[in-house]
Amino acid sequence: MSIELQNLIEPDRVHRSVYTDQAIFDQEIGQIFEKVWVYCGHQSQIPHTGDYHTVQIGRQPMFMIRANDGRIHVLYNRCPHRGVQLCGALKGNAGTSLACAYHGWTFHLDGKIKAIPMGAAYDGTRLTLDHPDCSMKAAARVDRYRGFVFASLAAQGPSLLQFLGAAKIAFDDMCDRSPQGEVEVVPICHRVVQHSNWKFFMENQLDALHPSVTHQSTGSAATRVEQRLTEERGAAPLHYHYLSAFASSFDRWDSVQTVNLPRGHGLLQAYMGLRPTDPDTLEYERLMRAAYGAEKTEEYLSRSIHHVLVYPYLSVQSPLQQLRCLRPIAPDKTLSEIWHFRLKGVPEAIYQRSLWYFNLVNSPATLVNADDLENWTRAQRGLQSSGGEWVSFHRHYGGDTEKDGVIFSNKGTSEAVMRSQFKAWSTYMAARGTPGEGGLNGGAHA
Ligand code: FES
Ligand SMILES: [Fe+2]
Repeated sequence: MSIELQNLIEPDRVHRSVYTDQAIFDQEIGQIFEKVWVYCGHQSQIPHTGDYHTVQIGRQPMFMIRANDGRIHVLYNRCPHRGVQLCGALKGNAGTSLACAYHGWTFHLDGKIKAIPMGAAYDGTRLTLDHPDCSMKAAARVDRYRGFVFASLAAQGPSLLQFLGAAKIAFDDMCDRSPQGEVEVVPICHRVVQHSNWKFFMENQLDALHPSVTHQSTGSAATRVEQRLTEERGAAPLHYHYLSAFASSFDRWDSVQTVNLPRGHGLLQAYMGLRPTDPDTLEYERLMRAAYGAEKTEEYLSRSIHHVLVYPYLSVQSPLQQLRCLRPIAPDKTLSEIWHFRLKGVPEAIYQRSLWYFNLVNSPATLVNADDLENWTRAQRGLQSSGGEWVSFHRHYGGDTEKDGVIFSNKGTSEAVMRSQFKAWSTYMAARGTPGEGGLNGGAHA
């Protein structure tokens, strides 16, 4: 890390420019987003040969595609001839080969050149079909874990599982909740552009103090309706609880621990209690016991997870099969993709719960998301001002416990989360090496 950057990060505070400065943002993209394993999508988004889905990795427009042999490749969306993007749509099916719309070069589904029109016109030039420059460039590394596809643009570095570390529980916890051990994507994605830095989102995910302030109006309104329905009917649908839980007391939030893992990953422990005793849930638990036995079922359904962060861009709410993925655009602009998944082999009512959460908490239509976005926009504007130089992370400073590189907050509202994320941030920003080194054409796959 340059001397300059070193001066911006202190254990209990950071300088405002890390949220606002274009040069720092550019460095983040090169040093972090174009090096780490980036989530591309779920394998069920491209079930058939030729299916593709575009994805932004750092500054690079890419796409993942299913080849004839079932393997998944992640390619730069760029024709080797004169640069035209091969995939013009967000997603689709390329058929048996990729064809460039400009001069008709065609490629196998792994990106290797297939044919060039007027082949004889290239005789005697240095362009030959067996030259790598003739084929599409692939991400240096591609891998998948439990159906979730990742790519890294750096040829060297930790494996996917090393990168995920203990945060891989995000995907285990989601898939283990299916009696078949698998999920499939619901092919609808909410896309939200926040007018603020990506780090606000990541910090906010484990900021357990803010819900009872920011979401107080939503939480208390839902609490009133939940109580009325309980009095009138004996019980209220679970989805009221998703919102009423936001209005918990500060003490209640302090009793929920954040676990801050190496590389900036982390998790917030469960606070909602998602095991009601309605007939649908009982039937679901019966299916789980039939698949895994009583002991494993208990283990899978009682993990204390609200959501898991894969730093620097992913928030996975595994108990309700939600996944949010960030694609930073500018220091003050971030795209978030909000997906949810269907547990294979469970009753429809269990899926409906996931859908309720998707719409009530994570969609652009909900006040919950809107209130968060408003905070971050105001934070961005505040930090762009000259009203102060530092951002404080002092809450419960000194009260955390570190064991084997894992920081336990002890108090749920501790700003250990932000301190831990910036520790990882500093390490990434200080690392040497050339980012964005692509692999050989068609070489990497999952
Ligand atoms: S730019 Fe693709 S064939 Fe010419
Ligand atoms: Fe929030």
